[in-house]
Amino acid sequence: MAKAKKKIKVGFIGCGGIAQYHFSHFDKMREKADIVAACDLRPERTQATADRFGSRQYQDYREMFEKEKLDAVYVCVEPGAHDGMEFIAIDKGINLFVQKPMSLDMKYAKKVLAGIKKNKLISSVGLQCRYVDSLPIVKNWISHKKIALINCTRFGGFPLVWWWRLKKQSGGQAVEQTIHDFDLCRYFFGEVAKVQSICRRGVITNIEGNDVEDCSSTLITFKSGLIGTFSTGCFGSGDHYITAYAPDGCKVVCSLFGNYTITEPNMTITGKASNDFGQESDETFVDAVRGAISSDEILTPYSEAIKTLAFVIAISKSMENGGIAVEPEL
Ligand SMILES: NC(=O)c1ccc[n+]([C@@H]2O[C@H](COP(=O)([O-])OP(=O)(O)OC[C@H]3O[C@@H](n4cnc5c(N)ncnc54)[C@H](O)[C@@H]3O)[C@@H](O)[C@H]2O)c1
Repeated sequence: MAKAKKKIKVGFIGCGGIAQYHFSHFDKMREKADIVAACDLRPERTQATADRFGSRQYQDYREMFEKEKLDAVYVCVEPGAHDGMEFIAIDKGINLFVQKPMSLDMKYAKKVLAGIKKNKLISSVGLQCRYVDSLPIVKNWISHKKIALINCTRFGGFPLVWWWRLKKQSGGQAVEQTIHDFDLCRYFFGEVAKVQSICRRGVITNIEGNDVEDCSSTLITFKSGLIGTFSTGCFGSGDHYITAYAPDGCKVVCSLFGNYTITEPNMTITGKASNDFGQESDETFVDAVRGAISSDEILTPYSEAIKTLAFVIAISKSMENGGIAVEPEL
């Protein structure tokens, strides 16, 4: 029998920067989903959402949950602002899309996951690079090689939202920003046994009140025995790659956005992504909630993303404690 395909009702908690990214995807699937409720502490942001989607406006998510009958809620608040909204959604049987990093506290994230499992809810997390369509090609090559060592880099910009410069609110550069790249490491190379990380501050001097690390270097030991390094910073050279080395001169260099070069002794293959992976990430979640596809097609359920969260929180713990070895806590 064909599965039901209904139009779903969606609410947003947090209508800031990343919500605009999701909105651009919802614009292209208006036949599948209505954004019926927009909640933000800032009324001008709920007003802009109402103007665009006709949503009802809330400044308090508790009131939104009381008054609305939602099929799904997007939680797009800053990392340090998750203060219980997921638990109300879980109690009401509302499916959850949560932005990364889903919390800065593993206990909180584990409780959310337990609720999602208990109430058999559909979930997804904003690790949209998992949907980049060239990555499975790279993963397939990796799975046929004995990868010995990886060497990775990400240098991004410095986001100017107020909370990003406060480690207590954002989690810091490695946690908030490089989580996407660490997630790809797990996707390609499997689970992490331990990390040892050191960081540096004082390089960026023109941002007032900044206490996040400017850059860090992390040694990663994977459960498979693979070892590697990851250097990352937020002073914007744009470097962005994972390099994996195997015997006989074989290697692959792959960016987060799916550009790759595979080198073998007598062969070089290059490729790149061809899909709108952000659109696919949202559309897969929405289609699963509509009942149009199986939720198994979601590449980034909370149960998967929490392993990456544990990885980056371990990195942060290590760097704040002089580089001690830390095992991801799950
Ligand atoms: N997946 C990605 O590529 C990506 C990119 C950027 C940001 N993010 C993540 O998205 C999240 C939000 O980042 P952003 O850039 O949109 O930040 P932002 O500051 O632009 O927006 C956050 C919004 O949440 C609102 N908010 C905070 N607490 C609230 C509450 N209790 N109730 C209602 N609204 C509340 C704020 O008023 C603000 O408008 C962060 O976790 C960030 O890491 C993900």
